[in-house]
Amino acid sequence: MTVIIDGKELAKKIRGQVAQEVEKLKNRGVNPKLAVIMVGDDPASKVYVKNKSKACNEVGIEFEEFLLDKNIEKNELITLIEKLNWRQDIHGILLQSPIPEHLDIYDAFGAIDYRKDVDGFHPINIGRLALNRQTFISCTPHGILKMLQEYNINLKGANVVILGRSNIVGKPLAQVLLNNDATITICHSKTKNIDKITKNADILISAIGKAKFVTADMVKQGAVVIDVGINRGEDGKLVGDVDFANVSKKASYITPVPGGVGPMTVAMLLNNVVIAAKYLNAQ
Ligand code: GUN
Repeated sequence: MTVIIDGKELAKKIRGQVAQEVEKLKNRGVNPKLAVIMVGDDPASKVYVKNKSKACNEVGIEFEEFLLDKNIEKNELITLIEKLNWRQDIHGILLQSPIPEHLDIYDAFGAIDYRKDVDGFHPINIGRLALNRQTFISCTPHGILKMLQEYNINLKGANVVILGRSNIVGKPLAQVLLNNDATITICHSKTKNIDKITKNADILISAIGKAKFVTADMVKQGAVVIDVGINRGEDGKLVGDVDFANVSKKASYITPVPGGVGPMTVAMLLNNVVIAAKYLNAQ
């Protein structure tokens, strides 16, 4: 029997825990607050930012949005980030990706105070993750780890195959799961014979952004399949990277799209804002 991993329900549980922590912080005069910067008007980013704003609202985290024109100069963006670094009422800073190329997103991530880097994209936090030291773990990898743990899916020695090597998902995810004793293979656009590699996976995680890329013949019977993809199908509906209808017949556990990884990403962001607020106000 295949278990459909309910990311929506688990995210709700985590949001409930976060709301309690927010309440405790407020009782000692700390109002957790997230600043979100968006540059330009990428339609997908607008939806993500709206979801983040709504989620913050629901758990009592304050939210301030900074919308910048796509033609701004790099120093204007960095100046804003530095202002937010100094503001004591702001605990988390998130720069929504993508941003226009002339702005260099890595310089911008690096300008964020690493103690407010709730995305976990600052080089210090990436380095700390690589060293398996306490840090902000980026939200999608952290959400995936939580899901696997919640469903008691064994990571120790498990063969995990990750499709995609992005800095936002693939690479930090590999690090997070390696820190949890899994054996990791990352496949990408230049990988040869991907299906041979995926067939070996106890846990197959796809984060490449291609609708229905993972077909049933690529999956081992009984594998755990995690779908990070958020793509628009021909009919305009959201679809993942995985051919859910067919792969779900073979998988032991599988995440749906929507309702799988997506809600977990947002829940882990809220969790990171609370961690930041606690650290910055440690007594
Ligand atoms: N764009 C898509 N996903 C993310 C994310 O998790 N964080 C940021 N900052 N931008 C994104």
